[in-house]
Amino acid sequence: MLRRIFAAAILVLGLSACSPWAVAQQQKVVAEGRAWWQHAVFYEIYPRSFADSNNDGVGDLNGIASKLDYLKDLGVDAIWITPCFPSPQVDFGYDVSDYEAIDPMYGTMKDFDHLVSEAKKRNIRVILDLVVNHTSDQHKWFLDSKSSKTAVHRDWYIWRDGKGPDQPPNNWLSTFGLSAWKYDPATMQYYYHYFYPEQPDLNWRNPAVEKAMFDVTRFWYKRGVAGFRLDAVDSLFEDPNLTDNPVLPGKDKFGRPNMEEKYNKKLPEMHTALQRLRKVADEYGAVLIGETWTENVSELKEYYGGHSDELQMPMDLLLTKLPLSAPVLRDHIAGVDASGGWPTYVITNHDIVRSYTRYGDGTHNDDIAKLMAGFYLTLRGTPIMYYGEEIGMENNDPKRKEDVKDPIGQLGWPTEKGRDGERTPMQWNAGRNAGFTKGTPWLSIPASAKTHNVESERHDPNSVLNFYRRLLLLRKEDSALREGKYIALNVSDPNIMSYLRQYEDNTVLVVLNMSATKQKSRFDLAAQGLASAKPATLLANGAAVDPAVFKSVALEPYGVYIAKLNK
Ligand code: GLC
Repeated sequence: MLRRIFAAAILVLGLSACSPWAVAQQQKVVAEGRAWWQHAVFYEIYPRSFADSNNDGVGDLNGIASKLDYLKDLGVDAIWITPCFPSPQVDFGYDVSDYEAIDPMYGTMKDFDHLVSEAKKRNIRVILDLVVNHTSDQHKWFLDSKSSKTAVHRDWYIWRDGKGPDQPPNNWLSTFGLSAWKYDPATMQYYYHYFYPEQPDLNWRNPAVEKAMFDVTRFWYKRGVAGFRLDAVDSLFEDPNLTDNPVLPGKDKFGRPNMEEKYNKKLPEMHTALQRLRKVADEYGAVLIGETWTENVSELKEYYGGHSDELQMPMDLLLTKLPLSAPVLRDHIAGVDASGGWPTYVITNHDIVRSYTRYGDGTHNDDIAKLMAGFYLTLRGTPIMYYGEEIGMENNDPKRKEDVKDPIGQLGWPTEKGRDGERTPMQWNAGRNAGFTKGTPWLSIPASAKTHNVESERHDPNSVLNFYRRLLLLRKEDSALREGKYIALNVSDPNIMSYLRQYEDNTVLVVLNMSATKQKSRFDLAAQGLASAKPATLLANGAAVDPAVFKSVALEPYGVYIAKLNK
């Protein structure tokens, strides 16, 4: 008789982070010869939206500090905080006006130091976001730069004459709409901005710029920061001759001609600059994570550097563009896993529609959220989660143009609604403002916060939150999930993705039904020397097996089955 184990998760090892077990695990990790970040779980925090300690409607550093126990309990090892530096907030912090201070909206430097030391007590590292490509137009470097053609910082940015009256230097476009050039009547030249006009691009061909930015990283390393997520690295360099980009057929979402960004993106010089940045990071044992949007896996591979001397963690953002399909995801993971670098997987972030909404079919959304967790958190590599993913937070796009806060949403409405929807406040409880603030939250909270919030889900054994907690605990305690090689199974199955993770004599099986119909997966594990292996279930959602005669796994729509295989 099949032993039914539908729905709820199975194994919870009640182990705390400071137990002798945890210490033993840590020793094993060292024995496996890995750096700390290779077995860590990263968690991205959008500080405006995480927790508001002073009730002004915007989150802050003390808010984050107050939630460290939650993060620890969840299984997080490092938090990446998106920019919290002084900023006019045109791009909500990605327009930095001082790289070596904290925006008063988020707190003080003392609050920052407190956050780092409280995090350290819990063995959680802090990663900051380095906006390398551009500054705010209110940064003192730019204010000086625009003051005259002979200013000390003039050449820190990219200034050029127009082609003629009212004609920018070339046809390059800003990714946030309109031209990439802004005319400044004071000195009668244009400056280049790949993002908003309030974000002028730095001139990375000027060694003084490079030195200043490297010094910024040193400043934070000395304060205990464990690394950086590097913003928009692929737009660091531009063609110095300002060659026009080739125009392609059709229009983009802002109604402009499509263009191949041949001369203002992904210039090879960025790799050598990143290698020099890495040398500085190595002096402090720090980790560099890249916002690496790539066309394919081989382009992603280049970011590791020919001698592993560039970014340790270039994010696989290709994954965020793929549909929920077993053949598609299987192919992609095979490519990334075989590419030679240590993969960094991400399914959602502050710039794209939340994974819960993107993959959800409206009927099985929670099951799909668990499936996606069962998928990317059991792969070989380091995952970067996004706050709220673990409770199944959905996108909450503005319903009216007048409610839009993100300027690209105002410009591109209604085709481009902007990124407010994926940045709404963290849902802590079912109460007012989801427990985020006692003030007025800067973005509105979706009705689904009543059911999808930390407090309610904590008490529900079948919640998305508890599934994530169990899974993250498994990752920590199981050497195959941490370190094992990835072996794809049943590679022609159109609906089920299944694979082994194998480390020494420890094997874990993962079976994922990526379809909306019931499926049965059969295995022949003879090739792996596991012909008569018996499964011991580690975690499951909507899955049934007969452990006595293990030949198949029956899966509900979007079911997940994870088991240890014992010979
Ligand atoms: C990156 C950030 C995004 C920001 C942009 C400009 O893509 O993730 O939020 O708007 O860079 O700094």
